[in-house]
Amino acid sequence: MRKHIVAGNWKMNKTFSEADELLNDIMEGLEKVELNRDTLIVVCPPMPYLEMATDYANDSYFTVGAQDVSANNNGAFTGEVSAEMLQSIELDYCIVGHSERRAYHHETNSIVAAKINQLLAHNIRPIMCCGELLDEREAGKQFEVVQRQIEEGLFHLDVEAIKNVVIAYEPVWAIGTGRTATPEQAQEMHHHIRTLLTAKYGASVADEISLLYGGSCKPSNAKELFAQPDVDGGLIGGASLVADDFIKIAQSF
Ligand code: PGA
Repeated sequence: MRKHIVAGNWKMNKTFSEADELLNDIMEGLEKVELNRDTLIVVCPPMPYLEMATDYANDSYFTVGAQDVSANNNGAFTGEVSAEMLQSIELDYCIVGHSERRAYHHETNSIVAAKINQLLAHNIRPIMCCGELLDEREAGKQFEVVQRQIEEGLFHLDVEAIKNVVIAYEPVWAIGTGRTATPEQAQEMHHHIRTLLTAKYGASVADEISLLYGGSCKPSNAKELFAQPDVDGGLIGGASLVADDFIKIAQSF
């Protein structure tokens, strides 16, 4: 059975002391609640706080992920962080191909594929983001856009490697806008993605891969989204910055 995952993408928010407080609130909050079945919680703070987050994670029910990684090995890449560095502080997950990185840092599908290779070579599970822009949806192109992102980002992987990947469908028009995809829109795209995975890797492999929804997911809509058969959790931005909201979302299965 595939994992239920709720991952918090803090993006570029919080000072060190605020991050400390939020991690502490998440740890204390998780002690007070019963989470359903096998829900995995991943917290993805900015790079400078990753080590602090792993310290908290050692005493708590969450694991830690990074928000990005370099497509290159170690060396002369000023400002970048390698997969080997992330592995050396024992991170389990890393987001790649977020639409903000695609838009502001010109990340193409082939760069995303190279980052995924770096992560898998260092035993870190990628959370690969995909999703269409508003004008692409309005032109009815959402399925082909996402198909291309999946094929070019992931389909070079073999069957063993793909099992370590998590996919997050995040329609760009829903990110940070308060305009969430309807549960039907999310399910329709997740089903499309699972169908692509089935055609390429077979049904038993496709059934093991967790597909997360992201884009204005909050406590008030998480239950309905997570109730969809192909929605296995969420990648949460804004609501992951408030411990109570994040934990409520994690309780929504
Ligand atoms: P949001 O962000 O929940 O604030 O819409 C989601 C994301 O970008 O991962």
